[in-house]
Amino acid sequence: MTPSERAAWLRAEIDRHNRLYYIDETPEISDTEFDLLFRELQELEATHPELRTADSPTQRVGVDPVTGFDQHRHLVPMLSLDNAFGEDELRSFDERVRRALGTEEPVTYMAELKFDGLSMALTYEDGLLVMATTRGNGEVGEVVTTNARTVRGIPYRLLDAVPGVLEVRGEVLMFKEVFDRLNRDRMARGETPFANPRNAASGGMRQLESKLTAIRKLNFFAYGVVPGTSGLDMGSQSHTMAWLRQQGFPVRGEGRLCHGADELVSFANHVETMRSSLPFGIDGVVIKVDSLDEQRELGFTARGPRWAIAYKFPAEQAFTLLEAVGCNVGRTGTITPVAELTPVYVGGVTVSRATLHNYDELARKDVRPGDTVIVQRAGDVIPEVLGPVLEKRPPGAVPAPIPTHCPQCGTELVRVAGEVALKCPNKACPAQIAAKLIHFASRGAMDIEGLGEKQIVRFLELGYLSDLPSIFRLGELREELIQLDRMGEASVSKLLESIEASKSRPLDRFIYGLGITFVGDRTAQTLARQFGTLEAFRKARYDDLIEVEDIGPRTASEIEEWLEEPDNQALIDGLLALGVVPSEADAPIGDRFAGQVVVFTGKLEQIDRSDAEKLVTRLGGKAAGSVSAKTTLVVAGPGAGSKLDKATSLGIDIIDEQAFFDMLPANVR
Ligand code: IVH
Repeated sequence: MTPSERAAWLRAEIDRHNRLYYIDETPEISDTEFDLLFRELQELEATHPELRTADSPTQRVGVDPVTGFDQHRHLVPMLSLDNAFGEDELRSFDERVRRALGTEEPVTYMAELKFDGLSMALTYEDGLLVMATTRGNGEVGEVVTTNARTVRGIPYRLLDAVPGVLEVRGEVLMFKEVFDRLNRDRMARGETPFANPRNAASGGMRQLESKLTAIRKLNFFAYGVVPGTSGLDMGSQSHTMAWLRQQGFPVRGEGRLCHGADELVSFANHVETMRSSLPFGIDGVVIKVDSLDEQRELGFTARGPRWAIAYKFPAEQAFTLLEAVGCNVGRTGTITPVAELTPVYVGGVTVSRATLHNYDELARKDVRPGDTVIVQRAGDVIPEVLGPVLEKRPPGAVPAPIPTHCPQCGTELVRVAGEVALKCPNKACPAQIAAKLIHFASRGAMDIEGLGEKQIVRFLELGYLSDLPSIFRLGELREELIQLDRMGEASVSKLLESIEASKSRPLDRFIYGLGITFVGDRTAQTLARQFGTLEAFRKARYDDLIEVEDIGPRTASEIEEWLEEPDNQALIDGLLALGVVPSEADAPIGDRFAGQVVVFTGKLEQIDRSDAEKLVTRLGGKAAGSVSAKTTLVVAGPGAGSKLDKATSLGIDIIDEQAFFDMLPANVR
């Protein structure tokens, strides 16, 4: 393909994806893939300026508005921002800004969340909302005033009767919780679910009947004022935001003033880590030179301002091919379907396998080998397949068969009465043993460094491991281990030291490591605290267990059943005989939190969350994972999201980390 053919192809392709995105609301590619196409065209046009056409998508934003709404020519075009991917590009933006301003000094920037919704321009006259418009093609947008009146947070009237015309810009979006609920309802009615909250919001804004907008429960956050409107000049972006907040606009509090590139980089990293805990989607941070004088000095290019940039995070969703549906055998023999995917970069990592949860879920989602599927990896959550892109289903694609026999040991599978799960009943199934060992050695349990999944599978194959106690006999095989490929003296010593150290892990980690059904890390902590010693725990029966707060009948019977099984008691004896001595639960140290139910949310700077929770329990209180009517106190750090919102709406006391420390008795601070 010649450069000119490639440019024409890129233009057509970008236009097609723009239409799919903005008008049909059924995108076929991820934002990252779109950005790559766009960049390639930009670069091609930069090296071959003769290929740049007036109608090239690089010369405009979005797509022409569709009919159905009145059109409005924006007073000031609604431009888009240039993107920066990664730290280097962020630093070059800062260098460009400093060069243009002719300064060596660090520039002051306002760094804000980049909301993943649709932009909206709101016009106020003498303090009253008179018009709301979408971005449209950047020059001309659609008038959606009645719809905008149904959006939460868009004020009809400002606090002050700001004289003249004021134009405020911001983003309309849908909260994740609303999106999930709407999609559940849609699926229950047999309707196609929305692809993502942004599509749902943008479709909602462009309904011809505003009642249909209202039921989508959209939200709005303001991010700027069109300079010059209402004769206002706040001097800086940060002052503008403070003023908007005073006038009654919803303004998120995460924005920060940053001095120079290092602070920008650390802000961007901070936001990236708390991204998944926000109650709505963001796709990056927007960085703006704070001073309006400096903004004017920097000015604009054809596409956007020189004083701002969008620092984009890796997309959390991507499209890829479902090559096959395999299955995984869990530590209790549960068989779960697993998607085997053409590797795809999503949420910052390359994903080639993703869970499909169980066979009912697989049937409900109806993803078939050969399908193009949407894969999501949000935050630290394990990757999952959201669903198929039906338009791309190849003819003849059929659902993957449900297995009848264990893929590892060939035993016939059983379906446990009343449960959706398929199970392999063979306790000696090698896959179950491997899964048990992996869980026992994992970070949240015995935390044995150097004994991860790969190593465990290898040692099982060599016969060096066979069950949990065999881990503590690995020392006898020191010479054999050293001879292994990629092992050597040093790593074997490290591994054996780490095994030795794990022998005295706290009781709760040991209990968690046993892998009893329904006993997660939090339940294990409760059990360790309640029973205090391993001896007391291993004698517990249903009646003792059901007394424990937070342990329901199902968990109590599972634990009782596990403890009554002679093989399991023998397993504990075996571990004790090999020198495993779980250290006993932390003793109470006071009653400062007696009667309190405390929830920690957001990032804590000075203490680990699990240590903070331990302090609360040792001081007579209860630490919970989610906010409910029972919660009495919420400790919120930076990045606190939906839990904080919920606590606010329930009127629960909210304090910061320092105030929490101030509550502690002097001897434990
Ligand atoms: S300022 C001159 N601030 O991102 C453009 N935009 O690519 C000024 N967006 O269309 C835009 N959060 O819809 C700005 N805090 C924020 C934003 C934000 C999201 C969107 C906006 C714009 C796009 C820019």
